[in-house]
Amino acid sequence: MSVAANVIQLENTVNSFVAEPRKHLIGGRWVEAASGKTFPVYNPATEEVIAYVAEGNAEDIDRAVKAARRAFESGPWPDLTPAERGKMIWRLGDLIYEHLEELAQLESLDNGKPIVIARAADVPLSADTFQYFAGWTTKMEGNTIPLSVPYAPGATFHAYTLREPVGVVGQIIPWNFPLLMAAWKLAPAMATGCTMVLKPAEETPLSALLLGELIQEAGFPDGVVNIVTGFGEETGAPLAAHPGVDKIAFTGSTEVGKLIVKAAANDLKKVSLELGGKSPNIVLSDVDVESAIVGTAGAIFFNHGQCCCAGSRLYVQEDIFDQVVEGVANEARNIQLGPGLDPNTQMGPMVSEIQFNRVCGYLDAGAAEGAKAIVGGHKSGGKGYFVEPTVFVDTKPDMKVIQEEIFGPVVAAIPFKEVNDELIAEANGTDYGLAAGVWTRDIGMAHSIAAKLKAGTVWINTYNIFDPALPFGGYKQSGWGREMGHDALDLYTQKKAVCAML
Ligand code: NAI
Ligand code: MG
Repeated sequence: MSVAANVIQLENTVNSFVAEPRKHLIGGRWVEAASGKTFPVYNPATEEVIAYVAEGNAEDIDRAVKAARRAFESGPWPDLTPAERGKMIWRLGDLIYEHLEELAQLESLDNGKPIVIARAADVPLSADTFQYFAGWTTKMEGNTIPLSVPYAPGATFHAYTLREPVGVVGQIIPWNFPLLMAAWKLAPAMATGCTMVLKPAEETPLSALLLGELIQEAGFPDGVVNIVTGFGEETGAPLAAHPGVDKIAFTGSTEVGKLIVKAAANDLKKVSLELGGKSPNIVLSDVDVESAIVGTAGAIFFNHGQCCCAGSRLYVQEDIFDQVVEGVANEARNIQLGPGLDPNTQMGPMVSEIQFNRVCGYLDAGAAEGAKAIVGGHKSGGKGYFVEPTVFVDTKPDMKVIQEEIFGPVVAAIPFKEVNDELIAEANGTDYGLAAGVWTRDIGMAHSIAAKLKAGTVWINTYNIFDPALPFGGYKQSGWGREMGHDALDLYTQKKAVCAML
């Protein structure tokens, strides 16, 4: 592992964007925080402040919710035809493509992820998410339903359903894919005709704020999308508890997911949750070993392991265990660590000091519980929140590094003898159920294992494949509901049954 350091020159527009304190977007205007306060945003590769943003509190949230309510109940937004709404959302996707480099630079600067990844994945996928959902606006159909009401003999009815937007939605997102998470939340809510209050993560608010400018440029009416930046307890919690919010959509830790449910219980607002994971990745001995090594290494090391679906428990059949584990360790050794803005960087820093300390805490806990790091196991020296990509062996099922989400580049490799109920039980043996992987040439076996895994997504001979059309979400404590695909529309609509006697 070596630290690269040839960072690219930032575009002038990016420099000027971070030079000004960034404000909230409320009711179509950029406004300072009600308290007048701002807070710093850091570059995790250098630990330096890159920008200041408005620090929201309950008053800012209240203003934003009221603006969203006005935009939902009256004015241009509810009067747009579905096709007009769809074109606006599509235009936003085009604008994201036009500003791809700026958004990618901002994302890399703020989050620490490699610029090449932000350019190739985060930004285009965000644009595509808007354009996928743009197509749904004209397809929000209900049904006609034949009735046979037994206590109304001889009567005939005309019954049908309407799909209506759920109303004002609060959306709270994390820092691992800042722009993409904003897109996953905003796009289906826009498509269904909701209005939104988005709270980006305090670690990474910048790309969402630039997106706010593009939303205005695309022509969205004032108050349809409001963006309030700030911390979890001061800004997120009042949004989750606000009685003017009809639905709350959250992505983040399972711990905070439970707080969201409690806050929403007050007025029974609708809730959807994308939470943590501890995903098993199962490699059978008949596999093409080389591609399994590259694929399973990518499953954990992509985005520095800061993925809710990271393949963090690597189960390998015993006859190829040493070969696969050594191969993954080699991949880890060859990863070029460095600032995201260096195009040669393959893995950037952890997003923040807090996250860095959490991950280092797990490295220590693994060692203390008797797991052995065959590569990595430490922070990487010098400035910035860098952690060595790590492979643990000699783990036990009840260890913290096996049960808890680390959210860093840390995988535990576990041998198994054969595919049987015991293996499936162990793979399913955490509180989480977000994703899983299976690697084998035996296609029947692959589908049979996929059927038994308690996970919202199962990848076969691949990993980390996302598409706006593919639903994503969790079993067990990994969440409620599915984002993306047409399932996401259910999160932002409710059905009305209309019944007429003829
Ligand atoms: P977090 O769950 O605290 O933060 C996610 C979002 O929730 C942020 O916007 C935050 O401001 C907000 N938030 C925090 N407390 C809140 C509250 N009481 N009410 C309303 N909103 C609140 O996640 P954090 O602290 O950044 O990371 C901790 C761990 O969570 C990570 O190590 C990882 O294991 C997990 N995580 C999982 C993610 C996922 O995609 N499923 C994403 C980020 C973190
Ligand atoms: Mg937190």
